[in-house]
Amino acid sequence: MKSPKRYLITSALPYANGPKHIGHLAGAYLPADIYVRYLRAQKRDVVYVCGSDEHGAAITIQALKEGTTPKAIVDKYHAMLESNMHDLGISFDIYHRTSAPIHHETAQEFFTALNEKGDLQLKETEQYYDEEAKTFLADRYIIGTCPICSNENAYGDQCEKCGTSLSPEQLIKPRSTLSGNAPSKKTTTHWYLPLDKHEDFLRKWILEDHKSDWKTNVLGQCKGWLDNGLQPRAVTRDLDWGVAVPLPDATGKVLYVWFDAPIGYISATKQWAKDNNRDWKPYWEDKETKLVHFIGKDNIVFHCIIFPVMLQLHGNILPDNVPSNEFMNLEGDKMSTSRGWSIEMEEYINDFVKKENGGDMMVDALRYYLAAIAPETKDSEFTWKGFQDALNSELVAIFGNFVNRTFVLMHKLCKGKVPPLHESITDELDKKLLADIQQAKKNIEVHIEGYKFRDALFEVIDLARKGNKYMQDKEPWIVAKNIGEDGNPTLEAQQKIDNCLHVCLQLTANLAVLINPFLPFTAKKLCTMMKVVDKMLEWENAGKSTLLSVGYSLRAPELLFRKLEDTEVSEQIEKLKNKSIQLMEATPNNQPSANIETAATEQKKSMIQFDDFAKVDLKTGTIIAAEKVEKADKLLKLEVDLGVEKRTIVSGIALHFEPSAIIGQKVVVVTNLAPRKMRGIESNGMILMAENADGKLQFVAANEATNNGANVS
Ligand code: 2FM
Ligand code: ZN
Repeated sequence: MKSPKRYLITSALPYANGPKHIGHLAGAYLPADIYVRYLRAQKRDVVYVCGSDEHGAAITIQALKEGTTPKAIVDKYHAMLESNMHDLGISFDIYHRTSAPIHHETAQEFFTALNEKGDLQLKETEQYYDEEAKTFLADRYIIGTCPICSNENAYGDQCEKCGTSLSPEQLIKPRSTLSGNAPSKKTTTHWYLPLDKHEDFLRKWILEDHKSDWKTNVLGQCKGWLDNGLQPRAVTRDLDWGVAVPLPDATGKVLYVWFDAPIGYISATKQWAKDNNRDWKPYWEDKETKLVHFIGKDNIVFHCIIFPVMLQLHGNILPDNVPSNEFMNLEGDKMSTSRGWSIEMEEYINDFVKKENGGDMMVDALRYYLAAIAPETKDSEFTWKGFQDALNSELVAIFGNFVNRTFVLMHKLCKGKVPPLHESITDELDKKLLADIQQAKKNIEVHIEGYKFRDALFEVIDLARKGNKYMQDKEPWIVAKNIGEDGNPTLEAQQKIDNCLHVCLQLTANLAVLINPFLPFTAKKLCTMMKVVDKMLEWENAGKSTLLSVGYSLRAPELLFRKLEDTEVSEQIEKLKNKSIQLMEATPNNQPSANIETAATEQKKSMIQFDDFAKVDLKTGTIIAAEKVEKADKLLKLEVDLGVEKRTIVSGIALHFEPSAIIGQKVVVVTNLAPRKMRGIESNGMILMAENADGKLQFVAANEATNNGANVS
C-alpha cells in the first residue's frame, strides 16, 4: 500500500475544567504519542495537534463551583493540562486552546459555510428557562429526581448515582441550579445538523469502507447509532460562554461545544502552521493526508458520525481511522475525578516524577504500564500492585537488567569499548539473536500501524528477555575465568567474550530505537550512555547489527529504572481511599466508590452496586453454528453472530440441546467476560440461560425482531 504523503494526528481536546486522570492519558494521549513518535522516527511528515476544550457547560459549571469566572477556570486548567502533558512526555506539535481568537474565527467560518450552503436547518422548540436568572438552562443546569433510582439530585443529562443518561424532560420535579426555582418552558430557535440526511453516506463509509480496518468496538457503536436511526442535532445553544453564532439575529446564542471543539483540531493546525511558516491547508484538504483521531469510547459518536458529516459538507478530508480505547478502571472501580477514585496526572507527577528518586524514569515507568495494559479492546484495570509488578519484574528485572549487565561486563571485560565481532567463531546463538532483532522490528511495525500498542511493546520487552537469555547461555563471566599465563583471559576466551558483548551492545542500541516511541526518556538515556546522538534513534536503524562502531568507548551505565517499594504501593492505596471518602463527604450527591464500601457491606454479598452491574456488557446475538466438544459430555462449541462480529463461545448446555436444534436461536451474551480456554478451545463470552423448576435449561432469548449486537440493559 502506498504511504500517505503526510499525517495529521489528533488527541481528544480535554475540557479545561479540572485535572485529568491517568485513564485519560492511557485512552487518548499516550497511544497517539507512541504512534507519532514512531512516525517521526520514520521521518514522515506528521503534525500532532491537541489543545484545551474551553467551552460548554463543563466550564461554566466549574466556574460556579469555584466561585469564579469561566475565563479564570480555563486559564487555570489549560495551564495545568499543558504542563502535565509536557511532563509526561506527550509530544504535541501544538497544544492549543479553543478560547483563542483564531479558533473562534475558524469555527464561525465553518458554521457560516454550512449555513450558507443550506446544510443546516432552523427549528423552533420549547426549552427549560429560568425566569429569575433570565436564561435558558443547559441540561447540566437542571436537577431533579431521577426516574430510575429516585436520586433527588440527578442532572438533566445524567444521574450520577445510577449512571443513567437522561434528558431534562425525564426528571421528576426539575429545578434550576441557578435560582433553585422550577423552570418554565420557553420557545427558542436553534440551528440543527440534519444527520438523518447523511445516513447512507455514513453507513457506506463506516460499515463498508472501514469494516476491516476500524476497531470492532468503534464499528459496533457506530452500527448501533445508525441502526437506531439518526436525528437532526442542534448545533447552537442559548448560553453566554462559547463561540458566538455569527449571524446578526443570534444574540445570546453560541455554537454547541461539540460543534466547535473538533473544529479545534483545524484551528490548532492553522496556528501551528503560522508559528512554523507552513501551509495548514493540505493537512485538511489533500486526500493524501492520513487523518487519525485518538479518543476514548465516550467520544466515538462525535468523531465517527457528527464531525465526519461536518467535514464532508465543508469539503475537508475524512479521518482514516478513529482508534478509540475503552476505559481504564482503577483498583476494582470506575476511574472518576468527581468521586475521588482516580490518579490525576498532576498527582502522579507530584508524587513520583518531581521526587528525589523519581524524574523521567518514573514518567517512563507509568508510560510503560499504561501502554502494557491499555484498554485497546476492552476495559482494563490499573492497580498499584500491577504497576509495581510491571515495573519491578519487567522494566527493572528484564530491560534494565539486560542493559546494566551488558554495560558492566563491557567495562569489566572489554576495557569499556565496543569489542569486535570475530566472524570465524560466531555461532547459532549469535545469529539467532541478530535475526530476532530484525523480526521484532517487523512485528513492531505491523502492530503500531494496526494501533496495537500493547502487542508492539510486548515485542520490545520480549527482545530484551531474549537478550538476557542469550547472555545467560553465553556466560561471559565464566568464560573469563579461562586465564592464560599473563593473568588475562586466553585469546580464545577473550574472543568469545568479545562476541557476546558485541552482540549485546548492538542489541542495546536496537532496544533504544525500538523502545523510543514508548519510553522516550529511557531511549535518550541509552543514547547518552552509548555516546551517540539522537539521530541514532531513527527507525531505519532498527534491525541493524552495526549501530555501534568497534573500539568506540562508552560511558558507565546509568540507572534506567528503580523498583517501586511495597510501602509506596500501600501509601497510594491508602491515599486513594482517603481521597474518595473526603470527596464523598464534601459532595453527598456523589456515589462513593464501590470499593470503599466493600468492607462495610461484606455480609450482604448478594447486593451489588449499579456500577458493578453496568460493567457487564450484554448483547443480543444468534447462534449460527453448534457442535459437540470432543471428550466433553456437557460442552457445545457455538458460533454466535453479534452483528459486527462473530464469537466462539463454549457453553455447558450439551446435555439439554441437540446442536442442530439450536441453530438460529436468539440469545443474550455476556460479551466482556475474560476469555477462557475449555478443552483447548478459547471461549469468548457466556450465553445467558435460565433453569426451570425441573432443572431444564432454557435460553434467555432476545425478541426475534432485535438486531444482533443490540445492547441489553
Ligand atoms: O470528552 C471530552 O473531554 C471532550 N472535551 C472531547 C472533545 S474532543 C474534540 F472534539 F475536540
Ligand atoms: Zn438515578
